[in-house]
Amino acid sequence: MNPSKKNTSLSRRDFLKSSAFAGIGTALSPRIVKGDQPELTPSTQKSPSPLNIAVIGTGTQGRVLIESCLRIPEIHFKAICDIWGYSQRYASRYLQKYGYNVNVYEDFRQLLDKEKELHAVIIATPDWMHAEQANACMERGLHVYCEKEMSNSLEQARSMVRTAKKTKKLLQIGHQRRSNPRYIHAIELLIHEKNLLGQVGQSYAQWNRAKSEMLGWPEKYTIPPEKLEKYGYGSMIEFRNWRWFKKYGGGPMVDLGSHQIDLFPWVFGCLPSSVTSCGGNDYYDKREWYDNVMAIYEFKTPQGTCRAMYQVQTTTKYGGFFEAFMGDNGTIVMSEVPQNGNWAMREAHAPEWDSLVKDGFLESETPPVQKLDTQNIFLDVRVTQEAGRWPLPVELAKPPHQPHLENFFSAIRDGTPLNCPGEIGFETAVAVLTANKAVESTRKINFDKGQFKA
Ligand SMILES: NC(=O)c1ccc[n+]([C@@H]2O[C@H](COP(=O)([O-])OP(=O)(O)OC[C@H]3O[C@@H](n4cnc5c(N)ncnc54)[C@H](O)[C@@H]3O)[C@@H](O)[C@H]2O)c1
Repeated sequence: MNPSKKNTSLSRRDFLKSSAFAGIGTALSPRIVKGDQPELTPSTQKSPSPLNIAVIGTGTQGRVLIESCLRIPEIHFKAICDIWGYSQRYASRYLQKYGYNVNVYEDFRQLLDKEKELHAVIIATPDWMHAEQANACMERGLHVYCEKEMSNSLEQARSMVRTAKKTKKLLQIGHQRRSNPRYIHAIELLIHEKNLLGQVGQSYAQWNRAKSEMLGWPEKYTIPPEKLEKYGYGSMIEFRNWRWFKKYGGGPMVDLGSHQIDLFPWVFGCLPSSVTSCGGNDYYDKREWYDNVMAIYEFKTPQGTCRAMYQVQTTTKYGGFFEAFMGDNGTIVMSEVPQNGNWAMREAHAPEWDSLVKDGFLESETPPVQKLDTQNIFLDVRVTQEAGRWPLPVELAKPPHQPHLENFFSAIRDGTPLNCPGEIGFETAVAVLTANKAVESTRKINFDKGQFKA
């Protein structure tokens, strides 16, 4: 089965079975809060079986994932691995507070040699290390949760999908919106099943961040040059700011964009047919990747050509980060931070949404804001009236990565399908990495379908 197909067109039954969404379709109440109760495995409703895990890469994101895992029943930390003393110390001390005296490794190969009781590994190292580490873990018989981007090289990303297939190990890629019940409600239920937006022809997403300095490090945790060299890093600056350098990462387009560009095929139900993008390294010195990119993807859907526009900016936080899916009957605006997006807006001519509100699929409209304080009496009333908003009724009372990790652990325990297996992670990597290539080549790049197959 084409996993992309599966994920972009989940049947209603699959949808309701999905652990991230269990219960929503049948027991809609005015507000659905996911995560305020500990969840038990649906098949048994008993305590889940214990799983032993290790974490490779305990920097910023590794700690975020540890924090989420600590909230999931019967996940036991056995070991961590990081080449940097600072990250080792931070994570091992943190885990100690929760009663875990983990074994600490510098080299992931030693961890794999010594730790014999592991079921799974979480990988949160810089992108360029993912393939080597994930492949070695799967070859050792371990299931892998690997952060996005799968890799900064498509060849390496492809090798991960192939290793997962060969070893029959699970490989979940960290595009966590795929397991977020708010996004599942918006995309699977409202857009696909209820056809809330009518014909969805456009999408728009952005991630705008204020300017930032290069990351530093505490002097006493400077890694000696010979050790940096052993692990492939050119300097401490590169080691700490790896995402800005071509050897190790894919720049802001990949770092931030991949979360959001991953949503476009899910919404449109097919992979992109082309990408055109512009961008540049226009602001910062000493950074290799583009600090701003604007890209347009085209999708050939059965309804016709659809387009999605994406921009990432790293010198202004204007508008923050959100995604908008636009149809001829309305728009849904989403963001991982619900304050930035968690509502639908209806076009005036669209069928009423009252029955959806009555059935609990949407909340009641919050009235439109009238801008009547203008002195300009010639302003047309149509431009002074903002659209009303229908808030989405699903809340996630958990950290945003937790449902994606839960989906991974459920897949190990009881065969729940992964929400972002390597095949989907690969499709996203192709779409995102190619946008960077389109900037370089200054021309539109057409995809052929075979490119998305690992
Ligand atoms: N899903 C998300 O929302 C999200 C958010 C942020 C980052 N990420 C991803 O998580 C990964 C890590 O990002 P980060 O922000 O934590 O970076 P980071 O630089 O803060 O942490 C990376 C850690 O990996 C360690 N490391 C580097 N090379 C290693 C090696 N060979 N072996 C073991 N450890 C090694 C570093 O010492 C550091 O502690 C990246 O792939 C990034 O794209 C995902």
